[in-house]
Amino acid sequence: MMHRKTTKNVRCTSYKGKEKSCSRLKCAPQTCYAQRACARMGIKMIKIMFVCLGNICRSPMAEFVFRDMLEKEGISDRFVIASCATSTEEIGNPVHPGTKRKLMEHGISVEGKHAVQLQRKDYDEYDYLLAMEERNIVNIKRIIKEDSEHKVHRLLDFSEFPRDIADPWYTGNFDKTYDDVVEGCKDFLKFLKATHGINQ
Ligand code: 4NP
Repeated sequence: MMHRKTTKNVRCTSYKGKEKSCSRLKCAPQTCYAQRACARMGIKMIKIMFVCLGNICRSPMAEFVFRDMLEKEGISDRFVIASCATSTEEIGNPVHPGTKRKLMEHGISVEGKHAVQLQRKDYDEYDYLLAMEERNIVNIKRIIKEDSEHKVHRLLDFSEFPRDIADPWYTGNFDKTYDDVVEGCKDFLKFLKATHGINQ
């Protein structure tokens, strides 16, 4: 069944307050409820992992912006969304204050998110691994070894103007990063709707 592969790092968008976790399979409570419901109905959830270097600025921004879009469209229960780092530098750290502040301006909370590192097993678990920049892809491939199923893409490769997401760690400009992330997430969602037949 689908939820057998669930990792503790996954946080499902469709968590509806059921606290009981799956003790047999050790699923995270958030994922267990939604994934079991979908498995019962024969619906395959689409699993997306956003990836950057540290998992404190860009990929958590993409994770929470994308979740917010799915919730506003009423389709969040079809998805599992997460984000992670390729490096170990920031593991366990909370979201960068710049990302937090920018998302709060849009009413998006990043409560509870801490940086985690990409694992080899995430490649089997997720359908899409979306990098913020080209260098992330090199690092992702060091961890996953081979992208045999073509799951690894740059987020803005789904946009009309393929490019890296501006890195606020160096620019200090979280507004520009937010604009890039929103563009990437909107265009990626359009792509998903077209390829997976998702309706409201
Ligand atoms: P992120 O930003 O990859 O978007 O989370 C960075 C975080 C940490 C570092 C670089 C970028 N660093 O060099 O530690």
